[in-house]
Amino acid sequence: MQKASLTIRKPDDWHVHLRDGAMLEAVAASTAKTFGRAIVMPNLSPPVTTVTAAEAYRQRILQALPPEPGFTPLITAYLTDASDPAELERGFNAGVLTACKLYPANATTNSAAGVTAINGITPVFETLERIGMPLLIHGEVTDPAIDIFDREAVFIERHLEPLVKRHPGLKVVFEHITTADAADFVANGPATLAATITPHHLHINRNALFQGGLRPDMYCLPVAKRELHRIALRAAATSGNPKFFLGTDSAPHGRGAKESACGCAGIFCAPHALESYATAFEQENALDKLEGFASEFGPRFYGLPLNEGSITLVREPQSVPERLQLADGSGGPVALVPFHAGETLPWRIAA
Ligand code: DOR
Ligand code: ZN
Repeated sequence: MQKASLTIRKPDDWHVHLRDGAMLEAVAASTAKTFGRAIVMPNLSPPVTTVTAAEAYRQRILQALPPEPGFTPLITAYLTDASDPAELERGFNAGVLTACKLYPANATTNSAAGVTAINGITPVFETLERIGMPLLIHGEVTDPAIDIFDREAVFIERHLEPLVKRHPGLKVVFEHITTADAADFVANGPATLAATITPHHLHINRNALFQGGLRPDMYCLPVAKRELHRIALRAAATSGNPKFFLGTDSAPHGRGAKESACGCAGIFCAPHALESYATAFEQENALDKLEGFASEFGPRFYGLPLNEGSITLVREPQSVPERLQLADGSGGPVALVPFHAGETLPWRIAA
């Protein structure tokens, strides 16, 4: 018997790009309507590297939402070669910073100021390990000699495995994993190692990038891989293993930035994220595993309380628009193509 509705504890998004300025105004509500909390990525320009910048960004996010949104943004610090461990510790102890994000320099959008040599910031890792502050990693090598579809797997052997060995107490989240290699590495790793999985990597493989022509809206980093990897990610997400939890990596870009000779990486999946995950979990006969993945494993890993309250999904077909016109605060519409544009999803969130 198909379930007519599904009520789960209020979920969190452990990886999202809320951006800034007009884009923040346009997209913040898409996340806040569904999630209790979100780990907000710091790759603004300039990136969020200090406690002062983090607190100011937190305020801008709250101002972009209606009063009493019932949503808590959790701010992260962007690591650079010059990150000051004392500053990160101060931000964590003050409750302003929840985690640190490591982008290998030039791995993705706004990562030019990222870390050029992972071994060069050992004092940062030692501090995070000591204070229990999670390290979130964009796990791709930037070596141009490495095929783009292999960059995640090579990152594991070159950087992640040695890092986890060197810092056995460090909490590490391997963000938006895209390969069977990553899922295996995390499943077989220590309890201090976890991973987030996006909705899009559960639904698309690399064919989606070239379906009938070049599809910029299916381009994100790490890029979607072969079908065998998508199958492995579905197995990991629906396994009930608490090392795998929800992180949408929703990453909006304006149309000009997507429809360009050198288009930006990022899929805007926030508007239908939970419905998208529910669809994938149901296809795997694992709807009973959605609550752990969406609402329990993330907070437990971060050492935060579970959300109070719940959210209900009802089985009602929902057409996803080809384009969303979102108000940017000053009244100007921002046109964004959501993930699943033009498709019908079997679930909708109850009003
Ligand atoms: O696809 C992506 N978009 N991957 C990232 O790592 C960054 C993100 C963005 O900020 O646009
Ligand atoms: Zn991201």
